[in-house]
Amino acid sequence: MHSHILPGVDDGSKDWEMTSQMLNEAYSQGVRNIVATPHNYPGEKKQDNEKIRDLVRQADELAKQIAPDFTVLCGNEVLYRRGIAQEIEDGHILTMADSRYLLVEFYPKERYSKIYQGLRELVEDGFCPIIAHMERVQELFESEEKIRDLRKLGVLFQVNSGSFMGGVFDRRPARLRKYVNSGFVHFLGSDCHNLTTRPPRMKDCVEKLSRKLPASCMDRLLYENQEQFLQKKYI
Ligand SMILES: [Fe+2]
Repeated sequence: MHSHILPGVDDGSKDWEMTSQMLNEAYSQGVRNIVATPHNYPGEKKQDNEKIRDLVRQADELAKQIAPDFTVLCGNEVLYRRGIAQEIEDGHILTMADSRYLLVEFYPKERYSKIYQGLRELVEDGFCPIIAHMERVQELFESEEKIRDLRKLGVLFQVNSGSFMGGVFDRRPARLRKYVNSGFVHFLGSDCHNLTTRPPRMKDCVEKLSRKLPASCMDRLLYENQEQFLQKKYI
């Protein structure tokens, strides 16, 4: 649900060779559907959706060469700003696999009031926002009450697989597991950018979580929510 595998469009993959290797690694990590979510920032030069779609088609062909049951879908990681709905309509932002789901990124120190207001507008416009790596958004990560409020609004949450790892003195993984257990984490994503510092890592995270959380909870996180998303149904 969160990857930077398309070549030459952001700080992710550099070329097709790297994209191919990242796809190979993702597949061996257990991934079968991968949404390409290149960064989408505000600014003068707006994204041409058709260019991204074309890269996604080529990446999907590569995926199919790896295995017939491997699919690449289109998307964006959209840095929040006003007017997102209009940019979508104008063909400058891609929703997740052309559904009403939208992966939205906030600055780590963004004020909660602005986050809430912005997401409410997106929901009112008929979108289903997924907060990208919610664990990085400080005010949100630290408050279960705020997470609950956003959930009531219809907002979903994505967490990076690497954030569940961490050492014994790192309290973040334990808190994140609690959120998964409470149904506040809907999607896992590797947020992969390359093969070294930010690789398509999933397996060790899934194994660790499976040891500590009930099977029903893992099913929801890894399969049921994905199925709902792929069928363009709400969670
Ligand atoms: Fe990302």
